[in-house]
Formats: sequence, C-alpha cells, structure tokens
Amino acid sequence: MNKATRKTVIAGNWKMNKTPAEATELLTAMIPLVKDADCDVIACVPYVDLQAALDATKGTNIKIGAENCHWEKSGAYTAEVSAPMLKAMGLEYVIIGHSERRQYFGETDVTVNKRVKAALSEGLTVILCVGEYLEQREQGVTAEVCAMQTKIALKDVSKEDMSKIIIAYEPVWAIGTGLTATADQADEVCGIIRNVIADLYGAEIAEATTIQYGGSMNDGNAEELLSKVNVDGGLIGGASLVAEKFARIVEAASK
Ligand code: 13P
Repeated sequence: MNKATRKTVIAGNWKMNKTPAEATELLTAMIPLVKDADCDVIACVPYVDLQAALDATKGTNIKIGAENCHWEKSGAYTAEVSAPMLKAMGLEYVIIGHSERRQYFGETDVTVNKRVKAALSEGLTVILCVGEYLEQREQGVTAEVCAMQTKIALKDVSKEDMSKIIIAYEPVWAIGTGLTATADQADEVCGIIRNVIADLYGAEIAEATTIQYGGSMNDGNAEELLSKVNVDGGLIGGASLVAEKFARIVEAASK
C-alpha cells in the first residue's frame, strides 16, 4: 500500500450556499491561503456561482467544480444542467451521487451511473460519493452498501476513465452532524472501496485511485484522518465555507 502513488485532493462542497458575489469574496480570501498547497484544491459550487468562481480563481491553484450534472446532453429537462454545458464553461470537476441527492432528490445507484458516464464522456473528473446510513452501519452492512454503490456507479466505466474518478466515502450519519467517523473507521471503509476497485480494475488502478473521506471533516480532525493510508483527501462541507478553516485542512493535507 503506497499513498505516494496517488494524488491527495481536498475539495469543498459548498452545497446550497453563497451567492455569486459571496463566492467571489470567499474564493478571494482563500487564494492566498492555499497558494502553496502540496495537494489538489477544488471548490465545488452552486451552478449560479460557477462563472464567478472561475473568474475569481483564474490563474490560481484552486480548481472549480459543479455539484451535479444530468445524463442527457440536452433536451426537455427543466432546471437541469448537462455535462457538455459544464465542459463548455471550462470546468474540470463534478460531484456525482452525493447522499443529499440520494436522500432528498430520488437519486439512485442507476442514475448515479448514468451521470458518471455522461460526465466522463465530456472529460470531466468525477467526485463520486458513496456512503452508508447509520442504520446500515449498525446492522453491519457498511461494506456491502459501499461496495454495491461503488460497483453500480462504475458499471461500464473503462479502465482508462478510472484516472478521472475520485471516490468520496461519506458516511451519511457524519454529514453535517458534527459526528466524524474515527480515522480508523474512515481508513477501513476507504480500504474496502479500494479493494472493490482492485476487483473491478486490478491492483494498479486501485492503488492509483484517490479516495477521500467526507463527513464533518474540519481543521481539527483533518490531520489525523488524512494520516491514514487509505484516506487520500477530503470532501468538505461546512468547513469549506470558511476560508481559514478550509486552508488549514489544505495545510494538513500538504504535510
Ligand atoms: P460536512 O463537512 O458539512 O459534514 O459535509 C460533508 C459533505 O457532505 C461533503 O460533501
């Protein structure tokens, strides 16, 4: 197991927060704080903030991503945004399958797979979210749930495209609750997901795939979580909305 074979990626998921003007303000504050990062730094922002975010971060090491995309290229899908639209804006990243999409908006493993393939076909890098509910953890089916979500999401995804897949393990019970998986719990499940990738694509690709932890990661717990061999970064909600907190996580990941 060699962490050096893969990229450490710290990504913010702003969820439904910040107007375009606020996005510019937040990113402008972050830029000097993360400029020396020794990891990839991404901010995934609401659709309406994307252009402001791209403008604010031009020429910096902060990359911008969207929080979702539809699987069709265009058509009668009111209020949806397609992968070619994101690509045309100059974006490189998109989150797919976040548990809030699964929980509140009817996202299923099958639609996650469709979105993943649509994003990959435009050359976007996907941050694919998987994770179990508390009841599932308590029932002892965390490994099965995360393996199933990962396998279905990656159905018909080629070996070559795996270089454009980042997986975020986000236990639903740890999201926005202040409860964090222990570093050992995060490491264990990220390792289980890595084994799933190894079964599907072989050990070399599994070793090269970035697997993040997400769920109440903050500037106080990031270093310990990121010290684990299978935890290659973080997908950060609340703490990504405060420049100094996000920067301290980036700093922890750069050590
Ligand atoms: P919090 O960091 O607010 O718990 O959110 C995590 C998350 O859902 C990131 O996608």
